[in-house]
Amino acid sequence: MTTPIQYQGNTAVITGAASGIGTGLARQAAKLGMRLVLADVNADALHAFAATLDAETLAVPTDVTQPESVQALADKAWDRFGGVTLLFNNAGLMATGFSWEITPERYDRCMGVNFGGVLNGIRSFVPRMLKDGKPGRIVNTASIGGFLPSPLMSPYSASKFAVVALSESLWGELRMLQSTIGVHLLAPGPVQSGIFNDPFGDAGNNPATQQFVQLMRDTLTQNGMTPDEMARRAFAGIDAGSYWLFPHPEHLFPALEKRVAAILNEQDPPSFP
Ligand SMILES: NC(=O)c1ccc[n+]([C@@H]2O[C@H](COP(=O)([O-])OP(=O)(O)OC[C@H]3O[C@@H](n4cnc5c(N)ncnc54)[C@H](O)[C@@H]3O)[C@@H](O)[C@H]2O)c1
Repeated sequence: MTTPIQYQGNTAVITGAASGIGTGLARQAAKLGMRLVLADVNADALHAFAATLDAETLAVPTDVTQPESVQALADKAWDRFGGVTLLFNNAGLMATGFSWEITPERYDRCMGVNFGGVLNGIRSFVPRMLKDGKPGRIVNTASIGGFLPSPLMSPYSASKFAVVALSESLWGELRMLQSTIGVHLLAPGPVQSGIFNDPFGDAGNNPATQQFVQLMRDTLTQNGMTPDEMARRAFAGIDAGSYWLFPHPEHLFPALEKRVAAILNEQDPPSFP
C-alpha cells in the first residue's frame, strides 16, 4: 500500500523541466498548489519557462549526468523549501543511428542522461527523503521504449530498459524498509516534445536513420499527446498509487503482448513499431 501524499504546499522537483513532458508536469504540479524546483541543463530555456508559471518556483540549472550537480540541486531544494514530496527524474535525450555507427561519446551521453540522471537523482534525494520520514514519491521517466526495443535507437532503448529495471529494484528496496516513499515508473508513448529535434548530434549519415528520425518527428507532431494531457494522466496514476504510469496503454500493451509471446515461444523478436 502506497502512503498517500498531499500536493498543496508541498514541493515537486522536476528534471528536464525546460521542454516537453517536463513542462506539462510542472504546470500540473503548479495547478495542484505545489512549490516547484525545476532543473534543466539548458539554463536559458529553464529560466524562461519558470517565469511563465503561477507558482513559487526555484529554477536550478543542472546537469543530471554529474552527481555533484544533482547533489547541489537537492541542497537547494531543501534549503529553500525544507523538503521534497515528489521527485520527477525526467531529463532525457535521444541518440539515433545503427548501433555500430553511434560514437562511444553519443552512447555514453544517452546512457548518462537517461539512466545515470535517474540514478543520480535517487542517490541525492532518497536518503534525505528517508531521513525526513514523510510521505513522498519518486517518479522515473522511462518510455514504452523501455519495454519495446527499437532499431536505430539502441542507446535510448538500452537506457530505458535500465530505468525500468532500476525503478523496480528501488521499489522493492523501499518496500523492504517499509518506507513512506513510493516509486512510479512513467512510460509514455508519443508526446509532443523536442526529443527528436536534436537526436544528440546528427541523425546519422545514412538515409535509413534520417528517414527514421523524420518519421518519429512527424509522429510526435501529428499524433503525439500534449505534455499537459500526459501530465494529467500521470498525476491520476500517482493519485491512485499505481506503480505503473502508462499514459498510452494502446501503444504499449498489444506490442508488449507480442513481444512476451515471442520470448516465451522462443520466436524471433517482433518488429517495432
Ligand atoms: N516525447 C516522447 O514521445 C517521449 C516518450 C517516452 C518517453 N519520453 C521521455 O520523457 C522525458 C522528457 O523528454 P521530452 O520528450 O519532453 O524531450 P525534450 O527534449 O522536449 O525535453 C527533455 C529536456 O531534458 C533536458 N536535458 C537533456 N539533458 C539534460 C541533462 N544532462 N541534465 C538536465 N536536463 C537535461 C533538455 O534540455 C530538455 O529540456 C525523457 O526522459 C524522454 O526519454 C518522451
